[in-house]
Amino acid sequence: MVSMWDDGRLCYGGDYNPEQWPAATWREDVALMRRARINLVTVGVFAWSRLEPAPGRYDFGWLDEVLDLLHDGGIRVALATPTASPPPWFSLAHPDALPVTADGVRLHHGSRDTYCAAAPAYRAAARGIAATLAARYAHHPAVALWHVHNEYGTTCHCPHAEAAFRRWLVERHGDLDTLNAAWATSFWSQHYTDWAYVSTPRATQYLGNPGQLLDFRRFWSDTLLAAYVEQRDLLTAANPALPVTTNYVLGDWVPVDHARWAAEVDLVAVDHYPSAVDGGAEEQTALAADLARGWARHGRRRAATRRGAAPADGPAGWLLMESAASQIHTTGRSHTKEPGRMARHSLSHVARGSRGAMFFQWRAPAGGAERFHSALVPHTGPDTRVFRETVRLGEHLDRLAEVTAGEVTASVALAFDAASGWALRHPGMPSTLLDGHAELAAAHRALWRAGYGCDIVVPGDPLDRYRLLVLPAVYLADDDVAGWVRAHVEAGGHLLVSYLSGVADQHGRVHLGGYPGAYRDLLGLRVEEFHPLAADEQVLLSGGGTGRIWSETVHLCGAEPVGTYVGGVLDGRPAVTRHRTGDGTAWYLSTRPDDRTYRRLLTEVARTAGLAPVCPDAPPGVEAVRRAGPQGSWLFLLNHTDRPQRVPVTGVDLFTDTPADGTVVLPAGGVAVVREEPAPMASVTATPPMTDRTPPA
Ligand code: GAL
Repeated sequence: MVSMWDDGRLCYGGDYNPEQWPAATWREDVALMRRARINLVTVGVFAWSRLEPAPGRYDFGWLDEVLDLLHDGGIRVALATPTASPPPWFSLAHPDALPVTADGVRLHHGSRDTYCAAAPAYRAAARGIAATLAARYAHHPAVALWHVHNEYGTTCHCPHAEAAFRRWLVERHGDLDTLNAAWATSFWSQHYTDWAYVSTPRATQYLGNPGQLLDFRRFWSDTLLAAYVEQRDLLTAANPALPVTTNYVLGDWVPVDHARWAAEVDLVAVDHYPSAVDGGAEEQTALAADLARGWARHGRRRAATRRGAAPADGPAGWLLMESAASQIHTTGRSHTKEPGRMARHSLSHVARGSRGAMFFQWRAPAGGAERFHSALVPHTGPDTRVFRETVRLGEHLDRLAEVTAGEVTASVALAFDAASGWALRHPGMPSTLLDGHAELAAAHRALWRAGYGCDIVVPGDPLDRYRLLVLPAVYLADDDVAGWVRAHVEAGGHLLVSYLSGVADQHGRVHLGGYPGAYRDLLGLRVEEFHPLAADEQVLLSGGGTGRIWSETVHLCGAEPVGTYVGGVLDGRPAVTRHRTGDGTAWYLSTRPDDRTYRRLLTEVARTAGLAPVCPDAPPGVEAVRRAGPQGSWLFLLNHTDRPQRVPVTGVDLFTDTPADGTVVLPAGGVAVVREEPAPMASVTATPPMTDRTPPA
């Protein structure tokens, strides 16, 4: 069924803020949008003070006119609820709804996101404006999608938040004995004898309680989700045919478990702004897109299970809701994307399942805090490189509608668990260099550079389609998670576990008896001591590689060493091991190898699992992603080098509509999308015999 947001084409557009411009500009905007083949724009994200300039006094005239203009221009609208930025009158009328930081400072309006999502006045006002918008626009022909709020992710320590946190804790733990045990409160005299004594994790003299901090993040994830769900329900009640989404912001700092949220949105939508400006930006783009696809699949399955139905077949749609056309502000200054990079990033997302490419923002404003953020129409206007690239990308996206029938099919599953990332950030961990997202990224990068596609899975997701499961520092493992990993291995699957995975239970309490308690037996080893490394320190590995961040004393209990430490206190001890487990192999990695070594190790692990890269003949620097389904197979080839590249492939080049008879030539920095004819075999080879011991480096 084609839903409102999905008219069969890929979506193309971005945040459009007509409230910042005079009406004459709106007309020019629509004309330019048509020239660039823009077909979806997000309107009203931060427009609350213009929609409701005084309490209960609404001004919808401008929005009515804009929606009509867009509709007449054939441009669909993702209509936003503006609740990420309450107007000044709101915070003055409800000072108790202003957020309080961990050290007790109450923030004031003047920026955005200045509210406590647990404050009743804020929630009532948010429902109010959402219901008012729903009543007026739920059947407007331009509106294709509701976009609730913007990048949920705030926390607060005000009395409302504290009361809500206690209620949430009662629900989660049931009684104080359970909470005391979960948080190990006998340590440092934190034993609670009354719920009233339990507070949010405010600024403390020294290290805070790890269980409390973890629960605080889980609480905020659930509280923000409840805030989203109540808006969603109001919007859906007004028109059940209109889908509802909210845009995710990525990173461990966000107290949102996006996987859990995915079952509550009709469409997973992510914003992505790579922090790297060199080649790392391409890897980060691939990771963000793989995460989004993983959440979309996970959410579809959870939602179906809840309904007692089987998950639908075919690709689980998701959408890149925001990205940057050019300048990205990172490392203290703006960096300009070189020609072609905007398209490569957009198409990397589309290759991995995005139903289009959306940007922040349509037109660069003259004023406001983000006046120097890039836009599809820059300050200079449409006679610019960026706008010409915008038009060109629109032409290309228009030719790619058919790829939505295909889905990325990977045989490697890379696990990610938001709570593990939060737990690793506790300052009492053995190293402050631990970063769950960076661990995920390092494993993903190794696969990406080796040319293997992967799906990102949430512990508990079905693993039957994967030959290899990778756990990169997935720190928390209760019995369910440990059983999920064990079942994969017992079914003949291969496994790579990196340090700190499975070390603690879901409250962050260490599994005793040797690390990693949840997987010791599977891995055939026992880790006795950690040796975290300083930021500028490295260990040498046999085979010539190096390790950073972490090293360990590993005792073998059935596993065999594959690589060892060289020199230092761990000289000659195992650094990388493998353990035969029936038909599979369980590998262990006790340090963070340099990128080259990690790539070689994962190549060896994947080869042992019988896997082959997506496009084994692609030259270095060319990224290959395949979407395939019953209706065909499409190969995306992204040339990240500064010279033309040739890739062997047979089919039809969709941008030029010409046959690719055995080879496609990619211009420097360019992209090709080829409908493959005939469709290739799956990238799984017969399992080769286990090779002799091969050092990873
Ligand atoms: C996003 C946000 C946008 C804009 C953008 C700038 O995170 O949703 O409103 O601020 O960042 O990069």
